[in-house]
Amino acid sequence: MSLYVYLEPDRDRLAEVGPQFQQIGTTIVHTMPDLEAHLPRYPETLLVVIGATVDLDEALMFTAYQRLQRPIIGVVLVRKQLTPDDVLKCLRAGVREVVEESDWEGLRSASSRTVDLSKALSTTLRSSADQTPFGRVITVFSGKGGSGRSVIAVNLAAALAAGGSRRVLLVDLDLQFGDVAIMLKVIPNRSIAGGIAMAGRLDEPGLRSIVTPYRPGIDVLLAPSSPAQGEHVRRELVVEILDIARPMYDFIVVDTPALVTDQVLAAMDIADWLVPIVTPDLPTLKSVRLTVEMFDMLDYPRDRRLLVFNRSNTQVGLTPSDVEEAIGMPFAVHVPSSRDVTVSVNQGEPLYISQPMHPVSRAIGLLADRCAGVEAVPERRRGLFGRVRRAVTS
Ligand SMILES: Nc1ncnc2c1ncn2[C@@H]1O[C@H](COP(=O)(O)OP(=O)(O)O)[C@@H](O)[C@H]1O
Ligand SMILES: [Mg+2]
Repeated sequence: MSLYVYLEPDRDRLAEVGPQFQQIGTTIVHTMPDLEAHLPRYPETLLVVIGATVDLDEALMFTAYQRLQRPIIGVVLVRKQLTPDDVLKCLRAGVREVVEESDWEGLRSASSRTVDLSKALSTTLRSSADQTPFGRVITVFSGKGGSGRSVIAVNLAAALAAGGSRRVLLVDLDLQFGDVAIMLKVIPNRSIAGGIAMAGRLDEPGLRSIVTPYRPGIDVLLAPSSPAQGEHVRRELVVEILDIARPMYDFIVVDTPALVTDQVLAAMDIADWLVPIVTPDLPTLKSVRLTVEMFDMLDYPRDRRLLVFNRSNTQVGLTPSDVEEAIGMPFAVHVPSSRDVTVSVNQGEPLYISQPMHPVSRAIGLLADRCAGVEAVPERRRGLFGRVRRAVTS
């Protein structure tokens, strides 16, 4: 195992710092070709420290190349001095940290920060690779009825399926008054109620036997046709259904009632994305504030919430920024209000399917992209720049 490498061509400097680095199991190399030969043999390497006597351009070329080749490796550059121009070059090449030659403490802490970041990065890369076959759960929610949850949920499912290239399960958890069946004009022969008898021993064929195939790539798990049956769908069954469904689908979109029931909480707990729907009216705003507070209380991460502003262009004296301010969080997408939505609901065909270029469909397409997209990497550069500047000016 060799996790850390230190490139130090200067013998005197090496005599000074080498022993300390070797204490923590660092491999010392003396030349750039040695370093380049070392890395392929030790793919677990997390940190490369480049000593001050290595030519800057050579160090930057190495860094820029490794950033693509081995993104896990963090490069810490030791320099005698740096001009602002050099700092820019370092940033462009992807150097994680720059420290002054005499700054021992700085080198130690820069190295440990870099190693921490590399470890986190390797876990993320590994887990995102592991999780690829697992469907992401997207729970659409609003504390107010009529805000457009079902409209957004059915269209989002259609957008995510991308014409059948992805597998999507749409689950109607509005167990008493679910209207996904009506919005898709499907006959509710099968429903989640079929799962009640299989609770505790549901498996893939069991789940397949209760979903309704809708379009290529889209299956629907409908709400029970009688509200009374809904009461027998327990939280545990919802958890079981979502667990079984995750390896079978790329995305699971969950439509919910306006109440935070036990079953809804189960779908929120498991969700990769929470999608609160907001419409521009005061009662909804109040309920969204309460929803956001509830999410905070339940420790649902903020960066997992995609706030949708539905009927955003309705003229009611509240601007989008009023609304954002009231809620304390920005909107992920704005879905305009359009008569065509009501027409599509009445015709039983999602607008995204009948008119994919409609402004409402496009907005929901954006939401689907956000749900499916590679996560935005937190802005680390700014932090690095701050640190580089501190290192240079201190
Ligand atoms: N963007 C929109 N533009 C126009 N009408 C909309 C829009 N979103 C929702 N609606 C209307 O509001 C009604 C209620 O929407 P729905 O999705 O059933 O709400 P919820 O599921 O939150 O109770 C729909 O039947 C539709 O006519
Ligand atoms: Mg609904």
